[in-house]
Amino acid sequence: MTDGENATPDVAAQYKMYIDGLWVESETGEEFDDLNPASEESIGKFPKGNEQDVSKAVDAAEAALRGWSETPAPTRGKVVLKVAALLGQLKEFLAREITLEMGKVLLESRGEVQEAIDMAEYMAGEGRRLLGSTTTSELKDKFAMTVRRPIGVVGLISPWNFPISIPAQKMFPALVCGNTVVFKPSSDSPRCGVRLVEMLEKAGVPKGVVNLVTGSGDSVGMPLVRHRKVRAISFTGNRDTGAEILKNAGIKRVGLELGGKNGTIVMDDADVDSALEGVLWGGYGTTGQRCTATSRAIVHKDVFKQFEEKLVERVRKLKLGNGLDPETDVGPLVNKAALEKSRRYVEIGLGEGAKILCGGKAPARKGFFFEPTLFTECTADMKVVQEEIFGPVVCLLRVADFDEAIDAINSVEYGLSASVYTSNARVMFKAIERIEAGVVYVNAPTIGAEPHLPFGGVKQSGTTREGGIEGLLEFSETKTVYVDYSGKLQRAQIDVEPHEGR
Ligand code: UN1
Repeated sequence: MTDGENATPDVAAQYKMYIDGLWVESETGEEFDDLNPASEESIGKFPKGNEQDVSKAVDAAEAALRGWSETPAPTRGKVVLKVAALLGQLKEFLAREITLEMGKVLLESRGEVQEAIDMAEYMAGEGRRLLGSTTTSELKDKFAMTVRRPIGVVGLISPWNFPISIPAQKMFPALVCGNTVVFKPSSDSPRCGVRLVEMLEKAGVPKGVVNLVTGSGDSVGMPLVRHRKVRAISFTGNRDTGAEILKNAGIKRVGLELGGKNGTIVMDDADVDSALEGVLWGGYGTTGQRCTATSRAIVHKDVFKQFEEKLVERVRKLKLGNGLDPETDVGPLVNKAALEKSRRYVEIGLGEGAKILCGGKAPARKGFFFEPTLFTECTADMKVVQEEIFGPVVCLLRVADFDEAIDAINSVEYGLSASVYTSNARVMFKAIERIEAGVVYVNAPTIGAEPHLPFGGVKQSGTTREGGIEGLLEFSETKTVYVDYSGKLQRAQIDVEPHEGR
């Protein structure tokens, strides 16, 4: 690992997988290239793992489980705290790594590293708490409580759009809870995966506790999902892959963070300029490649024209370019397939009668760039308004009133994040109550979750909450414990003190 702040990341180096505390080749001996989306150049060759590699990693994780799960949780937390310190020391280096590998602008990459630091610090502290609960018993001289226990070997399958912070938001609670891990990063971001594991190694995570296997979803992801000894899978990514995982997992815990088609409602009493900033940042930040990205702006008719005019003016000014360039507002899409997807949805939108106000094309240049695109005259039933594009495309919808806005925002299959801009307290609380989403923002964009609060979606957006106390629940079992100190047999429901009505 390069330690210096100004280190130039090595181009086209060869990387390895990490199994049982050793950096190793894969069983296949084959490799794949990791491309910089801004230049289409390879930034490294990574092993194409297969089922045997997965098995070796699972065996190593299983062997390490006893030692790690018996390590006191505050000590496990201290290891994670060391990772926080390393992330802090290497912040600038890691931010460049993120931008080089998946394209987001440096400002956001720094924010992402900070998010991982915050998660590490927060979860390290939870190692001193790891709360269960105590409660009362229906019988005399009997004590009742719950304790948190590790699940066992957990498989973490993470996406490329937050190549450091999403693995972090899974890895740190998993480790604090005493699990051992097999980690498969996206094949669009294996290098950030390697960086994270290098830091865990440096922080003193014992051998076998964290294992890294690189390769495709078919040859690494699915064998991990199916593996009998893997007790839980935590996946963030595409909805269809999530559904496939559910089909293949068998009896194990499955945590899913899937897609979104997130909307921002702008009411007639909103601060329009602030709403505009929110939609710009939420819609075009990370090139629209967040599961929380704002892909729909649902605007009250009385402020629609004003909002539309101001927004298009601002979107036109967004500077598309390499994320390493400080002038850039919007970086490239992650790969060619993503570019084709945005292009295809622009065609679909036009075919459905939506009107393009700006963007809609891929400029003729190297790299997977797509212009920030704004559609108007959209209706809730259009595909372009219903389906996740994961690109810099925002759809504007005009609504007559609050009820229509709520119907529109809830009309999609997803329910991850949503926001409402209003200055009316009644509207605000009604919106909080009626919007179907796991995360609701008031007078703020749909993006920007904080690590100590639970994050996750409803409907097709997923099954889990990560972060916060609930982030620990994803990676631990609840063990219910009864301690009878009466010295005799006491039968629940039968030997209960008689009372009136029984
Ligand atoms: C994702 O895109 O998969 O709150 C989730 C946010 C980010 C969410 C990332 N932390 O916008």
